[in-house]
Amino acid sequence: MISMAASSLEITLVGVSTVFHHRRRGDITAVKNLDLHIHPGEFLTLLGASGCGKTTTLRMIAGFQPPSSGQIRFGGEDVTHLAANQRDIGFVFQNYALFPHLSVFENVAYGLRVKRRSTSDIESSVAQGLRQVGLQGLGDRMISELSGGQQQRVALARAIAIKPRVLLFDEPLSNLDAQLRVQMRGEIARLQKELAITTVYVTHDQEEAMAISDRIAIMNEGQIVQIGKAEELYQRPVSPFVAGFLGNTNMIRGRVVAMQADRATLDIAGYRWTLVTTAPVKIGDMCDAVVRPEALVLTRDGDGLKGVVESRVYLGAKAEYLVRVGDQVFQVVQWNPVAGELFKAGQGVCVTLPAAGVQLLGAHISSDRSLD
Ligand SMILES: Nc1ncnc2c1ncn2[C@@H]1O[C@H](COP(=O)(O)OP(=O)(O)O)[C@@H](O)[C@H]1O
Ligand SMILES: [Mg+2]
Repeated sequence: MISMAASSLEITLVGVSTVFHHRRRGDITAVKNLDLHIHPGEFLTLLGASGCGKTTTLRMIAGFQPPSSGQIRFGGEDVTHLAANQRDIGFVFQNYALFPHLSVFENVAYGLRVKRRSTSDIESSVAQGLRQVGLQGLGDRMISELSGGQQQRVALARAIAIKPRVLLFDEPLSNLDAQLRVQMRGEIARLQKELAITTVYVTHDQEEAMAISDRIAIMNEGQIVQIGKAEELYQRPVSPFVAGFLGNTNMIRGRVVAMQADRATLDIAGYRWTLVTTAPVKIGDMCDAVVRPEALVLTRDGDGLKGVVESRVYLGAKAEYLVRVGDQVFQVVQWNPVAGELFKAGQGVCVTLPAAGVQLLGAHISSDRSLD
């Protein structure tokens, strides 16, 4: 197993913007004054909806797209104006971008030939690349003879064969079926850790991002709205946008009626809910509590919000409910629902709220507040 940890590179973007000039749409600022620091050897994912600027950001790191302003650094080196082929990057595209008329070997050898490596170096590097992606012995095949998953592996082998300083992926699994996507993402994550090459990965798939990344940067309209580990983003989203983007969520609105040390009591339509919180709220504030569907518990009766089941979807390992409480509808997930404990549409229930682990968002709490 080879390790290149010693040469892992940090990548820094400082105030980077990209403006595209459209004849009909006018000027579009695809990326807005973006600051991003990627640690050496880190697997960082840019996650966001279509059109939020992920590909543009990745292409700027690759050198395919010059920024309109700002600076990009690889380690201490300013690469803002360095040509793509001078940057030592491995890029894996969504459509693989393989040469269909060349063999697997020649596809993987391509970048090495461009770099004028010796024949023996090319042979050993290609063999190693193919071995690392599980395609050993398939060098003579034509691309057209391969499955989609195998083609994706060739693209991956080609990217790592040049021993790049940086690995970049743009939605590399979108064209694969669901099962293969899950398998390939595990292999990409494993290989990335093995090679310890600083990696930027673009996806719009939240689960994929959570499964493979060291950190995730959530983008919206050309900006990073929050960056952190999956669990930080999920448990402590800084805004309703992030809370809604990463997983399903309930925003439970209430007014702070009491504060005591690390606890706040909210009034929700007459019900008093006391929870542990460090949020800077004060008596009288209206807050939105970010409560995940799996953090709510349904019982027949008990201490909690009184509601009525509007609908139920039974999925075996879990049941998903919509429960009406006054003028709000909550999503509730019940894990491992045993038949006798299932609730029916129309049934009156009690919704128990968690006493801790809840993020409170208030109108006065800045949405770009840092988590640490
Ligand atoms: N080459 C280009 N020319 C003009 N507009 C572009 C170009 N590339 C991207 N855009 C625009 O920039 C915005 C961000 O695009 P992109 O970075 O591709 O988003 P994403 O990858 O998140 O879907 C979009 O509005 C898109 O239409
Ligand atoms: Mg894109």
